[in-house]
Amino acid sequence: MSQRVLAFFALCLCSLFLAAQTVPAAVQQETPVRTKHAMVVSIHHLATDAGVEVLKEGGNAVDAAVATGFALAVVHPAAGNLGGGGFMLIHFHDGKSTFLDYREKAPLAASANMYLDGKGNVVPEMSVVGYKAIGVPGSVAGMAYAEQKYGRLTLAKVMEPAIRLASEGFVLTEEEAQELHESGLAEFPESKHIFQRDGNYYHAGEVFKQPELAATLRRIAKDPQDFYHGQIAKQLAADIEKGGGLITEKDLASYEVKEREPLIGTYKDYTVISSPPPSSGGVALLEILNILEGYNLSRFGDRSPAEMHLITEAFRRAYMDRSDYLGDPDYVKIPIEQLTDKKYAAAWRAGIREDQATPSAALKRPAGFLPPPPTMADVRHESPQTTHYSVMDADGNAVSVTTTLNNSFGSYVTAAGLGFLLNDEMDDFASKQGSPNMFGLIQGPANSIAPGKRPLSSMTPTIILKDGKVAMVLGSPGGGRIITTVANIFLSVAEEGLNIQQAVDAPRFHHQYLPDVLYLEPEFPDATVNSLRAFGYEVKVSKGHWSDGECIAVDPQTGELEGGQDHRHHYGKAAGY
Ligand code: DON
Repeated sequence: MSQRVLAFFALCLCSLFLAAQTVPAAVQQETPVRTKHAMVVSIHHLATDAGVEVLKEGGNAVDAAVATGFALAVVHPAAGNLGGGGFMLIHFHDGKSTFLDYREKAPLAASANMYLDGKGNVVPEMSVVGYKAIGVPGSVAGMAYAEQKYGRLTLAKVMEPAIRLASEGFVLTEEEAQELHESGLAEFPESKHIFQRDGNYYHAGEVFKQPELAATLRRIAKDPQDFYHGQIAKQLAADIEKGGGLITEKDLASYEVKEREPLIGTYKDYTVISSPPPSSGGVALLEILNILEGYNLSRFGDRSPAEMHLITEAFRRAYMDRSDYLGDPDYVKIPIEQLTDKKYAAAWRAGIREDQATPSAALKRPAGFLPPPPTMADVRHESPQTTHYSVMDADGNAVSVTTTLNNSFGSYVTAAGLGFLLNDEMDDFASKQGSPNMFGLIQGPANSIAPGKRPLSSMTPTIILKDGKVAMVLGSPGGGRIITTVANIFLSVAEEGLNIQQAVDAPRFHHQYLPDVLYLEPEFPDATVNSLRAFGYEVKVSKGHWSDGECIAVDPQTGELEGGQDHRHHYGKAAGY
C-alpha cells in the first residue's frame, strides 16, 4: 500500500474518531422549537410575531411572509427593507411552486463602466456607498404582487403590524442598539437623524420609533402603486437625483416583478426546489448536490475532514461554473439544463480524488457538456447583510424568502422624508473585468452592468420535499457564502441526521473556487483543521461567524413543524401555533 493511501486511511480513521466532537457539545444538545400547524422563523422576534399574528387571523403562508417582510423593514433596518429587493419561493399545498423575482434593476442610465475612473480603475466605494450605488428597488412591488396574487387577506391588513411597529416603536436590545452605530449611516444626514438620533445614539432598552417610515407604510398599504407611479415615486426620484444618483421616475415606473419557474432537482430521495437566475443559488446548489449524490457521505461522520473534503470539492466545482456562466437570464443565455445535468455532475465527480484537494488553478471543466464560457473574468463584490425568513401555514403551504439591501444598511442613504434605506445592489454587478473583489469572488461578463439588468445574486431560498411533502424550508444571508450555507444546513439534516436547530447552528465551512481557500467558522477542532491541511487545503479559520439560517423542518412522523432559528444572532425567533 502506498504512503498516500495509508495516509488517506489514517485520515479517515481520524475523521471517524473526531466525528462526535466536530459539532460542538452545546449544539448537540439543542432541540428545535416545535409547533403543530404553522410557523414563522426570522432573525427578529417582532417580525416573527407579525407573521404569526397574521396566520392566526386567517392568513396563509404568503400573507404571513408579506407581514414578516414589511415588519423586518421596520425592526431590522440593516437588511429588512422597502428600498431593496428579494426572492420569494412559494410551494403550494397542491404541489405547485412558483418563484417571485423582485430583485433590483440597474437604472436606465447605468453603463458597464460607470464605476471606473478615467484610467479604468474601480473608484473605491462608488458601487457600495451613496446614491450611485442604488439599484431600482423591487421589494415593495414584490411583496404587493405576492399579496395580491397569492394572499388570502389584504395588503392593508398584513401591513398592520409593520405600521404599528414603526409608529409606536419597539424596544431595542443591546445588540440592535450597537448595530445602529454603523459609521456609514453617519455620512448621510437623513440616516444619521433617523437611526442615530443625530449622533445621540440609541441605547438598549430605549424605544425606537420611525414616524416617517410609518407614514410611507400607510401610503403603500393604501396604494402600493404610489411607490412606482405616484407621489412616493416622485419624492424618491427627486431625492436620488438631488444626491447624484441615476434612478428616475421612469426607472420606478418601469420596474416589474418577474414570476419565474423555480429550479427543481433531486438529491437521493429528496426533491430540491430552489432559485433560478438571476440567482446563482439554485444552479450552484443543485450542482453541488448532484456531485455529492454519488457518495455515501454519512459514512464519514458529520464534519469529519474526509466528508468536508468531498463537500468542498463539490463547492469548488460549482463555484467555478457560477463564475463563468451566471447572470441575468433576461440578458444572457444560461445553460441551466446542462449545468444541472446529473451526467455532468458525474463527470465532475470523476475528477475528485478522495485523498487530495484539487488546486483551483488545476481545475478543468469536463469537456463536452457546456458551450465555451466567455473568456474574460469580471469582478464581484459582496457584503455582509441580507436576511432570510421561512414560513409554513396549517394547509401545508411553504414560503422561503431572502431579501436584501446588499451591504448592511445598503448604500446608507435614507430617502428624504420617506424614512427607509436604499440598497447598494449595483455592487452585485461586475464593476470591472478581471480583478477580484473584497471577498475574492470572480465571475464572467454575463454579469456586467447594463441598463435595466438585474445583478446576479447568491440568494438561495429553497424548499425541500420528501415523498411529495415539504420536508424543509431553507435559506440564509451571507453574500457568496449563502449557497454553501444552505448546502451545509441541508446536508447536516439529510446526511447526518442533525435536527434543524443543530444544523443551523453547527459550524460552517465554505469554498468558492477562487481564492483557493477553505474558510472555517471558529468552532472546528484543531485536529480537523490539521487534517484538512493534510489534504492540501489552505485553511483559514475565521474569527467570526457568517450567514444566518432561519429555517423550518417538518417531522416526517408527526407532521409537526420544527424551527431552526440561528443562534449566531440573539433577537430572532421561531414561533407559531
Ligand atoms: O444578492 C446577493 O447575493 C447579495 N446582495 C446578498 C448579500 C448578502 O447576503 C450579504 N449578507 N450577509
